[in-house]
Amino acid sequence: MGKTLDDIRRFLVLGSGTLGLRVGLQAALSGFDTVIYDNREEAFGGARKVQASILRHLIRSGRIGQEESDAAQARIRFTTDPRDAAEDVDFVNESVYEDLEVKREVWGLFGGLCPPKALFTTNTSYLLPSQFAEATGRPGRFCAFHFHDVFHANVVDVMPHAGTEPWVCDLLMAMGRRLWQTPVLVERESPGYIFNAMLMALIGAAGALVTGGVASVEDVDRSWMGNFKMDRGPFGILDTIGLDTAWHVTHNQKDPRSQRFAAYLKPFVDSGRLGVKTGEGFYKYPDPAFSREGFIERKD
Ligand SMILES: NC(=O)c1ccc[n+]([C@@H]2O[C@H](COP(=O)([O-])OP(=O)(O)OC[C@H]3O[C@@H](n4cnc5c(N)ncnc54)[C@H](O)[C@@H]3O)[C@@H](O)[C@H]2O)c1
Repeated sequence: MGKTLDDIRRFLVLGSGTLGLRVGLQAALSGFDTVIYDNREEAFGGARKVQASILRHLIRSGRIGQEESDAAQARIRFTTDPRDAAEDVDFVNESVYEDLEVKREVWGLFGGLCPPKALFTTNTSYLLPSQFAEATGRPGRFCAFHFHDVFHANVVDVMPHAGTEPWVCDLLMAMGRRLWQTPVLVERESPGYIFNAMLMALIGAAGALVTGGVASVEDVDRSWMGNFKMDRGPFGILDTIGLDTAWHVTHNQKDPRSQRFAAYLKPFVDSGRLGVKTGEGFYKYPDPAFSREGFIERKD
């Protein structure tokens, strides 16, 4: 029952925020009938706008044509009605808030409403699927399927919990390719999957250099950019992730180094300097200092 990619027709996304709208758009581009559910009707207007702008970008860059774009848009339906959302779905990918209680509640609801054939997946970034597998009512058919930003960073982590049935990972590796991603298998539960685990180590070290008074934000970024010829350093990356998210992650880790970094981030969060999304974080946007000519060479 529902064990191969060919069995999947209807794709349900839970949460119409930053990630859910992108996963939903990619599912539609890959030919699935796609339903995007959110409990806030007002989330849909913004989601439609961002989807339209991603589609325009994909057309301009020659990755898709106008017809594919129109067909994808026609395959997407938005709803705030859980029963309507769950009807006849084959595959569910959840992108609601990164909060254990919210995830347990949403999975409790959809575990009861979705047909038994449906496969359940979560996009959680730092929680572990085992923490809310039981809430789904079908832990064997539940697995982490964690995207990055879908269109630019197109890697998806497949990470089972101890109770995930083995066939689920094979199906998800195939599903990842179908969704234009590079699938990578995290063979056992591990916080932060693969890329996020490495990124956290980099950002933790960068934070310790600044909170320890060893180097400035700009010089930490300069060093990374100058050595690796990257377009941004750890603090530029943090501005993209969002300093509120970074604060949540560091605040929840109890070691002294993370706590010092969380305390350093707190005034940014309290004053609404959350990074790119609010126009200011460590740098000011849309024209951050690290993107200007001469930043690495200190020609300022
Ligand atoms: N943003 C990213 O780049 C990214 C990347 C990988 C993973 N994730 C993970 O994806 C999840 C979502 O992140 P996001 O950045 O899209 O968040 P977001 O805040 O942009 O969107 C979350 C959406 O979930 C909806 N929601 C919240 N509670 C709900 C409920 N009870 N029922 C229905 N909808 C509900 C909200 O209305 C909102 O539209 C998180 O677990 C996050 O860790 C995000």
